[in-house]
Amino acid sequence: GAIGAAGLGLSFGTGSVAAVEPGDASEWTAEHASNIERTDATTAPVIDDGAEPISDDYWIWDTWPLRHRDGSIAKIDGWQIVFSLTASKDLVPGDRHNEATIRYFYSRNGHSWREGGTAFENPLGHHQWAGSAMYDESEDQIYHFYTATSPEPEFRQRLALAKGASLETGPRGVELTGTQEHTIIGAADGELYQTLEQSREQGIVYAFRDPWYFQHPETGEDLLVFEGNTPTGSDSPSDPRSYNGNVGVMRATNDSLTEWELLPPNLEAIEVNQQLERPHYVFNDGKWYLFVLSHEFTFAPGLQGPDALYGFVSDSLYGDYEPLNGSGLVVANPESAPFQAYSWLAMPHGNDVLVESFENFRGLDDTSRGEISLDEVGHLPPEEQKDLFGGTLAPSLKVQLRGSETRVVNELKDGHFIPSGN
Ligand code: FRU
Repeated sequence: GAIGAAGLGLSFGTGSVAAVEPGDASEWTAEHASNIERTDATTAPVIDDGAEPISDDYWIWDTWPLRHRDGSIAKIDGWQIVFSLTASKDLVPGDRHNEATIRYFYSRNGHSWREGGTAFENPLGHHQWAGSAMYDESEDQIYHFYTATSPEPEFRQRLALAKGASLETGPRGVELTGTQEHTIIGAADGELYQTLEQSREQGIVYAFRDPWYFQHPETGEDLLVFEGNTPTGSDSPSDPRSYNGNVGVMRATNDSLTEWELLPPNLEAIEVNQQLERPHYVFNDGKWYLFVLSHEFTFAPGLQGPDALYGFVSDSLYGDYEPLNGSGLVVANPESAPFQAYSWLAMPHGNDVLVESFENFRGLDDTSRGEISLDEVGHLPPEEQKDLFGGTLAPSLKVQLRGSETRVVNELKDGHFIPSGN
């Protein structure tokens, strides 16, 4: 639940620096978004066919690496571990969201991944959506944050934490061990964050999901950002104020990270976009780079933007977020393959970032070109739907960060979170 911690004088990890004072959210405005334009700097190359899927049995989409408390990617006895949303390849791709199960994969070289098993024995929710995983070395346990989601068509989302897993490594692989305890750590409150019920009045989908753990680089506070919506009181899908995506913030109020308070959102896209998905941070040169993903179809009427990674830069958690490249666009799918990838995750890589994603729908194009549209995919015979879907890790991209400008500079062959050899 939401516990008002302000003024309680809580002490956090590093102790000496004052805790964050929440401020107003920055706005991603229609003016920013009207500058969205694919350029060489912001467009991904077309993904070549033929990437070996990392699993024969499961579709794989949103993926996150096991990281240390400080955000660096964990390597345990030489192994990297990633967690993915997965669903059986018996399902057509559109049905996968309702059956999403988190599984883990491990790798020695950081780009050829082998299947482990499921991340949880008895997770909360009918199915689980995206999250983040932190390994505390001194406690030898994983803090796994995820979204506990109720069945279709409701898709009620709450934020959950699983604690208690550890890892056993050997020459041939990695195994998750231990019994995990699951706790709900956050739910929409109707004031800062729109509830499912409020969204029903708007007639539009809602979000309260994708918890991303990070430690405040100066205060040491344990924080989460997540995908939410700001209640705007709108009551119809044609009202632009129904497009109300935000980046939500929560702060832990106990050391065991089982209790959290909701803080106000720090970024909003009211009348701009309804979904600021999988928010996550990269800290670089004293700057806070906040990345989100969004879809073409969730832009408010009158605005246009591709399925892409978007980003903003500020000097603090509740600072003034400036959209990168003037518009926020960081990595767009190319015009000729507008749905080739999704769910980009930017990970620190020296002064730059490495951006991992999953292969979404190939061979789709704008309806204007007379090809199959995204809406039509679900009406194709199952085998044809499956043929169009990648459902595996996409090649990673290297993206330069230069202040508030970024540039896609390189494509790696496989799905990496840190380059091989590092
Ligand atoms: C992004 C996303 C996440 C969610 C998951 C559901 O790809 O929409 O926000 O956790 O996919 O499948």
